[in-house]
Amino acid sequence: MLEPTEAVGFRAVREMSRKPSNPWADIASGALIAPSLLACDFARAGKQIDRVIAAGSDVLHIDVMDGHFVPNLSMGPGFVQQIRNYTSHPLDVHLMVEDPAYFIERFAEAGADTITFHIEATETPSKLVNRLRQLKLGAGISLRPKTPVELLKEIIGAVDLVLVMTVEPGFGGQEFMNDMLDKISQVRDMLRDDQRLEVDGGINPTTAASCAACGADVFVAGENIFGAEDIVAAVKAMRTQVESMRPTR
Ligand code: DX5
Ligand code: ZN
Repeated sequence: MLEPTEAVGFRAVREMSRKPSNPWADIASGALIAPSLLACDFARAGKQIDRVIAAGSDVLHIDVMDGHFVPNLSMGPGFVQQIRNYTSHPLDVHLMVEDPAYFIERFAEAGADTITFHIEATETPSKLVNRLRQLKLGAGISLRPKTPVELLKEIIGAVDLVLVMTVEPGFGGQEFMNDMLDKISQVRDMLRDDQRLEVDGGINPTTAASCAACGADVFVAGENIFGAEDIVAAVKAMRTQVESMRPTR
């Protein structure tokens, strides 16, 4: 069980209000750094979360895997609830599950602020986005490396964020796929300026900089941050690189 620290105050405030905050709308501009808890040491999760928050990370990325949509299992609503009880930092839940409609309510209850589901996992993306809106959550849609951007055409205007996977989803610590850079530029061209473009998989200061130059503005990193000797320095190095590369829009 995580040992709550000064988050107690926040927790009390949050439980009273229980209003999710949509980081994609609330955090107006600039690059956002999203450490992926899949790579954190669960036995010391509280301390590691304190460090990435102190280092200036903007949201906490939580990978939910069901063993079907991807060949791996990870965290459920119970884990998200514990993180929620520990901190009021925005929680960015990435659903890699075959039936996202079944899980949306459960993660909203657990305290998610924003939920991203995969376009390959549903025939009715607009229904899911409408449900996320009713729950006042941020709404994101993701596509696997092989999925063409054309599949986004119908739904892209209704979401806050598109997550372009830069590795095949299912595991942390994989190598960044350079051929995703063109796709990032294509997606950026399809998005409005108020919408976010998130990249996830093999992100480090160098690959993040390349993604930033193509229009990405939310950077998920697991291994590069939680695998670092100095977590705080790792977050700062990422921000310095991406801020220096982002095109002015
Ligand atoms: C993979 C997940 C990623 C992963 C990133 O399917 O969606 O969020 O945790 O880990 P790294 O940064 O180590 O590739
Ligand atoms: Zn992820």
